[in-house]
Amino acid sequence: MADLTPPSLHPDVERVAFLLGTWEGSGHGEYPSIDPFDYEETVVFGHAGKPFLTYAQRTRHLTEQRPLHAETGYWRVVHAGEGPVWLEIVLAHPTGFTEMATGTVDGGEIHLVSTSVVRTPTAKEVTAIERSFHADGDTLRYELRMAAQGHPMTHHLSAELRRRS
Ligand code: HEM
Repeated sequence: MADLTPPSLHPDVERVAFLLGTWEGSGHGEYPSIDPFDYEETVVFGHAGKPFLTYAQRTRHLTEQRPLHAETGYWRVVHAGEGPVWLEIVLAHPTGFTEMATGTVDGGEIHLVSTSVVRTPTAKEVTAIERSFHADGDTLRYELRMAAQGHPMTHHLSAELRRRS
């Protein structure tokens, strides 16, 4: 019979365990080549008893309620000793990208910088992505910048989420 007991937290994940749970909130998006927009978002961080977090987010347009972006992947903890936690991020986007990134968690400050963005043949031209998160108790704020469509690293998103569970 399958063992359905939830796995216990891997010790390397303890210092990023403050991310675990479901976060909901809203954000604002812009880019030089598009109309600005507002969105609502749900982010879920989970774990599987190994040294990574599972990560998934989905979004809707704030007023029109139509689905917008979604992404899913893993936040791998590769160093959990002295100093900041080091992460490697593996994400898939339905818009035709995979995003590999490295970064650090230092208290509630998280900074991720892409090491590669691989595109399907019809995906838009995104060459680099940077993400900054600030966690403060049950509030998680983030900003995302990207180099895309010939623009240098430029702000795309900012959002504020609250922990729901
Ligand atoms: C909360 C997450 C996100 C939301 C709600 C969102 C939403 C949007 C919206 C509404 C647009 C304009 C219309 C459209 O093309 O659909 C757009 C454009 C775009 N987004 Fe995002 N996006 C998100 C995350 C991302 C990420 C992570 C990337 C990079 C992988 C990205 C790359 C782009 C690109 C390349 C464009 C087109 C820019 C252009 O045409 O010049 N977006 N996004």
